Amino acid sequence: MIKRLIPGLFLAGLLFFNACYYDNKEDLYIVEGNCNTTDVTFSQTIQPLINDQCVSCHKAGNANGNVLLDSYTAIKEQADNGKLLGCVHHESGYSAMPPGGTLSNCSLTQLDIWVQDGAPEN
Ligand code: HEC
Repeated sequence: MIKRLIPGLFLAGLLFFNACYYDNKEDLYIVEGNCNTTDVTFSQTIQPLINDQCVSCHKAGNANGNVLLDSYTAIKEQADNGKLLGCVHHESGYSAMPPGGTLSNCSLTQLDIWVQDGAPEN
């Protein structure tokens, strides 16, 4: 719960400061290196991330945990039921994903933004 709250507050802070200091957006949005958090989209951000980190274990023919992450519809389902964020944030009650590792802060932030945005297809 706490783990989930911290990125949430962080995100809220980013959005808040962005509104106040629009000119400094570039500085404030640096999570690590050049993390793009300004235009997070399914096709440009989320799908490539999941293809890279998750799909090998969550595709047709190899759906670990009976979870598919190989299409928008499948990913959206896991976003809506809370498991996508629960797993990547290693929350209790969810299996930590990816197994044996943690996504980068940049990827976690991008997933948070996308899900908070309602997990849109575009
Ligand atoms: C090396 C293989 C592997 C990778 C990579 C992997 N998973 Fe999994 N995943 C599993 C296995 C095995 C299970 C089922 C066993 C379990 O729940 O621990 C699972 C279960 C899940 C579940 C259901 C867990 C639950 O609590 O009900 C979700 C959601 C999930 N994975 C999402 C992801 C996401 C998102 C990624 C990428 C960040 C990812 N997985 C990467 C192997 C993998």
